[in-house]
Amino acid sequence: MAIPVLKGKTLLLGITGSIAAYKALDLIRRLKEEGVDVHVVMTKSACQFITPLTVQTLSENAVAIDLFSLREEADIGHIKLARMADLVVIAPATANILAKAASGIADDYLSTILLATRAPVVMCPAMNPAMYENPATQKNIEILKGRNILVVEPDSGSMACGEEGRGRFPPIDLIIEAISKKLTPPTWKDLKVLVSAGPTREFFDPVRFISNPSSGKMGYAIARAAIRRSAMVHLLTGPVSIPPPYGVTIHNVTSAMEMYNRAMELAPEMDIIIMAAAVGDYRPEKISTKKVKKTEKALAITLIPNPDIIAAIGKIKKPQQITVGFAAETDNILENASQKLIHKNLDLIVANDVTRPDSGFCVDTNRVKILLRDGSILELPCLPKEEVAEKLLDVIEDLRRRRDGI
Ligand code: C5P
Repeated sequence: MAIPVLKGKTLLLGITGSIAAYKALDLIRRLKEEGVDVHVVMTKSACQFITPLTVQTLSENAVAIDLFSLREEADIGHIKLARMADLVVIAPATANILAKAASGIADDYLSTILLATRAPVVMCPAMNPAMYENPATQKNIEILKGRNILVVEPDSGSMACGEEGRGRFPPIDLIIEAISKKLTPPTWKDLKVLVSAGPTREFFDPVRFISNPSSGKMGYAIARAAIRRSAMVHLLTGPVSIPPPYGVTIHNVTSAMEMYNRAMELAPEMDIIIMAAAVGDYRPEKISTKKVKKTEKALAITLIPNPDIIAAIGKIKKPQQITVGFAAETDNILENASQKLIHKNLDLIVANDVTRPDSGFCVDTNRVKILLRDGSILELPCLPKEEVAEKLLDVIEDLRRRRDGI
C-alpha cells in the first residue's frame, strides 16, 4: 500500500504460541514490502507452530528465542532490541502473553522485552473463543488498553479448534493500519472529516447508467490517512470495488443526487470536508421504470445538470470549516483549478492531469498540484496515492495551524 509512516521503521514482532502463528509469516512479508526492518522474537511455544528458520528467512534478521542463549544475547541483546524498535507488535498474542504483560512478568525473551521497551505497543490477540471471552483475559486486555497499548480486536468466525466465535487472527491489512496509526501522532484527534470518493451512477432505466472510471482509490487513501491521524472519518462513497478502510463510518450512495443529499446532511457537523468523488455533472431527465427497448433508431437521452455538491457546501460553510476540492483536468490545469477554487469557495484545490497514464482515474499513483487561496501552489511529483493523501493532509494541517495561530 506504500504507507509513508512505515517506510524505514524498525519493528519488533513478537510471535507467541497460537495456531495463528503461521499468519504472522504473511505479516512479516507485508511489513517488508512496506520497507520495514522486522526483528522477530518468538516464544518457545511459537517454535512448535512455525520454525525460526522460516521466520529468519522472511524477516532477513536473526530471530531471538532464548533469553540466556550466549550466542543470541551476544548478537542482539534483549535491552538493545527493546531500545532499537520504533514499535513492538505481538501477533498473534496468546492469553498467556496478555496475562504476563498485564502483570509485568518477565520470564522469557518476549515478556522481558515488553517490560524493557519504551516504544509503543500493538497487540493482536488470537485464541480459542472461550479463552478470549474468559473474564481473566478480558480484564488483562482492559489493563493493557489502560496503559495505552493498542489492542486489535480479533475477528469472529470458525476457528482452527472447530469452535465458532471471536478469536481469529485479524486481517493483515487491519494490523498494518493499527501499526501505522500507532506510529502517527494523533494530530486530528476529535476532528470530524467528511471524504467523498468514487464515481456516481446516473441511471436512465433500471439496468443502464452513465458513469466514469473513478476507482475511489484517491478518496479511500485520504480517508485512511485521516484515520491514522485519529480523526473521526465519514466516507461518502459511490460504487467502487475496493474494500472500505478500517475505522471509517461508511455512507454508500449511487447517484449524484443521493450523494448531494447525504453530503448536505453531514456537512454542517464537519471540521474538514474533502470532496474527491468524481460526481456525475449530469443526470438523465427521465428514468424509465422499464428497460428501454433496443431499436434500429438513435436513442436520445436528455441530460440535466446535477447540483454541485462542494459548491453548495461552500455556500453554507462556517468560517472554521475547511473545504477541499479536486479538479480532474485535461487542459489549462492551473487556470481551471484556480477558477474552481474561487467559484466553489474552497480553501484549497487538488488539480490533476487526467490525460497522463500515471495520474488520475484507476491507477495507484497520482501527479497533483495543490493550490491555495493565497496563490501558493505545491507541485508534487508522481507519487503513490497513499503518499499524495499524506501530503494533502499535511497542507491542511498547516493551513489550520496558521489560521488558528498555533
Ligand atoms: O467542476 P468539477 O466537476 O471539475 O469540480 C470537481 C470538484 O467538485 C471535485 O472536488 C468534485 O468532488 C466536486 N464536485 C461536486 N459536485 C458535482 C461535481 C463536482 O462536489 N456535481
